[in-house]
Amino acid sequence: MNKIALFCESKKRQVETEKLALELNLALISSPPYPPYLLVLTEQRLELRRTERHGPGPVFVDFLSDTMNYRLRHGGSGNEAIARAIGLKKTRPAVLDGTAGLGKDAFILASLGCRVLLLERSPVIAALLADGLSRGTEDANIAQIINRMTLINMDCMDFSPISPDQRPDVVYLDPMYPHRSKSSLVKKEMRFLRAIVGNDPDSGDLLAWGLSLATKRVVVKRPKLADHLGPVPSLIIKGKKNRFDIYLIS
Ligand SMILES: C[S@@+](CC[C@H](N)C(=O)[O-])C[C@H]1O[C@@H](n2cnc3c(N)ncnc32)[C@H](O)[C@@H]1O
Repeated sequence: MNKIALFCESKKRQVETEKLALELNLALISSPPYPPYLLVLTEQRLELRRTERHGPGPVFVDFLSDTMNYRLRHGGSGNEAIARAIGLKKTRPAVLDGTAGLGKDAFILASLGCRVLLLERSPVIAALLADGLSRGTEDANIAQIINRMTLINMDCMDFSPISPDQRPDVVYLDPMYPHRSKSSLVKKEMRFLRAIVGNDPDSGDLLAWGLSLATKRVVVKRPKLADHLGPVPSLIIKGKKNRFDIYLIS
């Protein structure tokens, strides 16, 4: 049995779910036995659930959540470490987020006025993100931010701009990091992400790719004590929980 299947919880969305099952190449199931994870289309949204008894709640993309709201109000300013890391000044750099995940960092960057191209290679994670973006455009408070975000489901290392002037100012990278801490201490979203996408064992190649594409800088988000993804960066900016390694393009 695969570790994930698709499940439809809304009678109205049965056809949509069948289409999604084909797109994602997932089995559409309606009764047990269930695999460890289910991607569920509910009346309101697409969400990822753990099927074990007493498992954690679902993971879905919600740009209107309290956490995102807090980040927008308190951190989504020019002072947040991520803003300094991308070199935010009066002009807003064009950012390519090569490891989009659930789109939180990209959302903060878009809230700062940057156009952000989000590339995510996992079809399941990209589907969750696409669903969150689509719901976000329907909310007047954040639609303007979401409209600056464009998602493509692809491996970023296969991306090449059509013309040289389409190269991004900044390539932003936040690959998975193999945590050694007890899994219960790692945030639920990160545990779900790791279960679906693994540990990004090729993350070492991302930096060289980013450096060949960005015109101004590559920013790599790392856990505070993690090794650099490559050589020693030009600058390091420390955030509350993470650090940003910045490689300036000379
Ligand atoms: C730690 S998550 C990123 C979290 C994201 N910064 C956020 O704020 O939600 C890493 C993501 O990068 C994706 N990824 C890793 N390597 C990739 C590649 N070469 N191309 C596209 N996506 C990649 C993984 O599938 C995973 O979803």
